[in-house]
Amino acid sequence: MLSLFQLSVLSFLFISVVANNGEATFYDPGLGACGTQNTSGDLIAAVAQEFFDSYPGATSNPNTNPICNKRITVNYQGRSVTVAITDRCPGCKGKYDLDLSPAAFDHLADRSVGRLHEAQWDFADEHRRRAEFIVKNTFTGRDVFSGRDARRMARRRRSEMHIRRMS
Ligand SMILES: *[C@@H]1O[C@H](CO)[C@@H](O)[C@H](O)[C@H]1NC(C)=O
Repeated sequence: MLSLFQLSVLSFLFISVVANNGEATFYDPGLGACGTQNTSGDLIAAVAQEFFDSYPGATSNPNTNPICNKRITVNYQGRSVTVAITDRCPGCKGKYDLDLSPAAFDHLADRSVGRLHEAQWDFADEHRRRAEFIVKNTFTGRDVFSGRDARRMARRRRSEMHIRRMS
């Protein structure tokens, strides 16, 4: 059982940038959904059709999708590359999956790897910050819970503390 003292040092509230997380593959680009002809040597990417089609301002004409030519930075195991979005990936199953040009993929891993799991990416030119709560154990310095779980946890801890004080 945690003592009231221990509960009170379970501090939380931490702001961090949360990246999109998906699988990255590569393909041979041609005429992309954005209407430009790109090649294997260009640093471009196709985003999952789900992401492309739900991007704010998207219409039935993919050429005018506001996501076109936006730059994203993809990180994978300490390596990164910045690419322009020029295409839509119908074969991408996850909303945050990416299909990269071979040149872009080369910056992240050897092509023989084929599919990168947990590639993290975000828009390069925008600071789209999302608040994230992380419950940290201040004794060990380790994150106990993060995201929605942390918020739920923090609420529960507070109500537990409240009940303990009352009793
Ligand atoms: C994609 O292709 C267009 C038209 O061919 C070109 O202008 C653009 O620079 C290419 N994008 C990148 C990132 O190379």
